[in-house]
Amino acid sequence: MVIARTPLRKRLNNLYWEYRLGISTRGIIEIDHPDAHHYATMLYSTIQQVIAFLALDPSDVFIDIGSGKGRVLCCAARLKVRKVIGVDLSEDLCSYARRNVARMRERKSTVEVHQGMAEHFDYSNGTVFTLFNPFGAVTLDNVLRKIAADLGPNKSRIRIAYANPEYDHVFRSHPWLERYEYWDRKSLRMEHSVSFYKARL
Ligand SMILES: C[S@@+](CC[C@H](N)C(=O)[O-])C[C@H]1O[C@@H](n2cnc3c(N)ncnc32)[C@H](O)[C@@H]1O
Repeated sequence: MVIARTPLRKRLNNLYWEYRLGISTRGIIEIDHPDAHHYATMLYSTIQQVIAFLALDPSDVFIDIGSGKGRVLCCAARLKVRKVIGVDLSEDLCSYARRNVARMRERKSTVEVHQGMAEHFDYSNGTVFTLFNPFGAVTLDNVLRKIAADLGPNKSRIRIAYANPEYDHVFRSHPWLERYEYWDRKSLRMEHSVSFYKARL
């Protein structure tokens, strides 16, 4: 078995950002739900590249779906947006995330962390969504249906970043969405591939 190790430089960069923001988000935690993937987070460098590409502006409401301990939330909250929101089914992980948000340095935006199932969340205020492969195809399909239903005609300006896009085919089954950018892990030597979607106009 080949175990992929994160290069030392990237691990040091993660430690640097945990220290700089004053938060603690590392680790791998199993989640007790049949369609949920375990908790893990992305490299800070990956998250920062994704957020930069999404070009957030002060009117955006940023939602990390399956927000875990809140690393993505804290990175987004360093920018001035209308609101940053996390949703996660695990009460423990939500407590971690709230603690991290409360103590983070460099926060410029309000952050809310909601405990609950992503497929039942109210997405009507969201404009930018991130998912780090949080669950299987069935839940993903339900979440995309919920986003479409909640946003209705307001979905025209949304962007969705889907990291480690194991179920891209689910996005393809939603004709209201189109993939407008794809980062290939191998050719770009990144940790994960990332698919970016927007509403088809
Ligand atoms: C791979 S982690 C990503 C964490 C975070 N987005 C990050 O990148 O740092 C996936 C998270 O999705 C959550 N999750 C899985 N299924 C969920 C569901 N149906 N509703 C809400 N959260 C869910 C898990 O509890 C876990 O914290």
